[in-house]
Amino acid sequence: MYDVRLDGVSKAFGEVEAVRNVSLAVDAGNFLSLLGPSGCGKTTLLRMLAGFVRPGRGEVYIRNQMVNDVPPFRRNVGMVFQNYALFPHLTVAENVGYGLVARKISRPERERRVEEALSLVHLTNFDGRYPRQLSGGQQQRVALARAIVIRPAVLLLDEPLGSLDRKLRERMQVEVRQLQRTLGITTIFVTHDQEEALSMSDLVGVMNGGRLEQLGTPAEIYERPATTFVADFVGTSNRLDGTVVGLDGEESLVQVAGTRQHLRIPQRTGDAPGVPVSIMVRPEYVELTARGGPGDDAPLFGEVRFSAYLGASVRYEVELGEGASLVSLRPRGIDGGGYARGDRVGVRIAPECFYRLAGEPRNRAGAAAGVESDGAIPDSFANGPVGEAGSDEGGSGVGESRRSGGLVPRIGDEPA
Ligand SMILES: Nc1ncnc2c1ncn2[C@@H]1O[C@H](COP(=O)(O)OP(=O)(O)OP(=O)(O)O)[C@@H](O)[C@H]1O
Ligand SMILES: [Mg+2]
Repeated sequence: MYDVRLDGVSKAFGEVEAVRNVSLAVDAGNFLSLLGPSGCGKTTLLRMLAGFVRPGRGEVYIRNQMVNDVPPFRRNVGMVFQNYALFPHLTVAENVGYGLVARKISRPERERRVEEALSLVHLTNFDGRYPRQLSGGQQQRVALARAIVIRPAVLLLDEPLGSLDRKLRERMQVEVRQLQRTLGITTIFVTHDQEEALSMSDLVGVMNGGRLEQLGTPAEIYERPATTFVADFVGTSNRLDGTVVGLDGEESLVQVAGTRQHLRIPQRTGDAPGVPVSIMVRPEYVELTARGGPGDDAPLFGEVRFSAYLGASVRYEVELGEGASLVSLRPRGIDGGGYARGDRVGVRIAPECFYRLAGEPRNRAGAAAGVESDGAIPDSFANGPVGEAGSDEGGSGVGESRRSGGLVPRIGDEPA
């Protein structure tokens, strides 16, 4: 049963298309995070759900009721705004009880519910204070209590943790999620922090330029990105472009653009010598070996360009050739103490760890002519979504996104 459903919803402000043809559905009790860069339409989408902005096109449903014409206070939706906007001249209790007064709830019932909400966010005994007498995290909790006190069907949280320091933010992530589970409220949580989105959610929706590019579980989003944008935005982008040069059993042999090196990836229908491919691999799957040492039979090799100490791990950037490099994340202490800039290393990646991206390689023309990419050549997605999961209809529904594993690179012109 859906608690929230958007059906082809769009909103333009003058020339700006803030939200474009978004369809999605959230099951009762689920936690959805909306993730995307600044200005991609996250707040506008929430405001349409809450009723502060009317969609230009499309329909908004809350618990099977079409609510396009229903004003905010009749929507049964609790919202925490991006700047959490407490009333400075009202006490904590008055702030929390505000929505109950508006809903004409009797005073004794109001007091009981305010007390209950404050206890849920661990602020019992703070009822008489004013917002200025609270820390940022405490104000955040008051805003949360104010949203849940009306017992909404749907809770909308717009970057509620954005202004908190890292430690407090992590604690609040756990608290918000626990509270959401305890109350079983269907929740939509906006963030531009990918780790936050991946760690907290049942579902993640990635937005870009007003569109919902992919909706899926955190693992689907991370391991099976539907578009180049999602692959680049979520996690470290580790993208290689290349050309199929041979087929071997279940695998295709791919020459990496800008190098003379070959790698093996799982074969796909349509693979034939000359077919261009874009592949992605997450940094944690990129293993490095000491070049020239015993057992040095890694299929790829390169030179360490950069290494960064991250505490629990080390991040290496390894150049394989002109315009082709990979980031490798290694747990610290493995790989015999690590590598330094300039070290020659072997690179090993299991074929099943590669993931193919939809669309043509970013710099295919350049690669074919031996020209280094300047990074300015738009990838296929800039020309419009490609492949089933990137299409207007396909990228937005939960059901559709589950099929996103089956992306086939679009085969364009015959290679030169
Ligand atoms: N009331 C408005 N009038 C005109 N333009 C608007 C209005 N509200 C939003 N926009 C524009 O719509 C686009 C989407 O804005 P929105 O606030 O939804 O982005 P966002 O994803 O929430 O960004 P952020 O992460 O910075 O909060 C932006 O280009 C913004 O400038
Ligand atoms: Mg916003």
